[in-house]
Amino acid sequence: MNKQLLNEFSNQINKEYYSAFLYLSMSNWLNEAGMPGAANWTYVQYQEELAHAENLFRYLQYRDEIVQLMKIDQPDKEWDSVLDVFKNVLSHEKKVTASINNLTTEAINASDHAARIFLEWYVSEQVEEEANASDLIHKFKMAGDNPNALLMLDSQLATRTFVAPVVPGVG
Ligand SMILES: [Fe+2]
Ligand SMILES: [Fe+2]
Repeated sequence: MNKQLLNEFSNQINKEYYSAFLYLSMSNWLNEAGMPGAANWTYVQYQEELAHAENLFRYLQYRDEIVQLMKIDQPDKEWDSVLDVFKNVLSHEKKVTASINNLTTEAINASDHAARIFLEWYVSEQVEEEANASDLIHKFKMAGDNPNALLMLDSQLATRTFVAPVVPGVG
């Protein structure tokens, strides 16, 4: 694999682990804030982010490349409200989308068609991530300060369970 492309893949692995850390930190805060359902939702997202990183890692191993594992930044640990958490989820996922798009452009520029095809799963996944975050922002805005609505919404988020994503092409 082209050196620059390999570097960008390694950077993306770091970003996915950072995402995992960010969601774990959000889960911690939400649990303390008395929102166990939203804490569960972000914990499941933490598990998803670990899977995103692991599948990128496995792909590079399959391609017989050496991954650079770098220091993971410390995530924020406090937010103003549950709505503020999900606004941060959306802005974070938009940055990840830009990063995945740049990585895909690198693959195209390097004429690495296999890498480009592999990254398609991640491109589509980002559409889902942004849609989920937007949906939750909309719902928490509707709930406002109404305790009944907030409790009902929180109990819906409590039902989310982790399903390991199947990423094609990792060998
Ligand atoms: Fe991710
Ligand atoms: Fe997802």
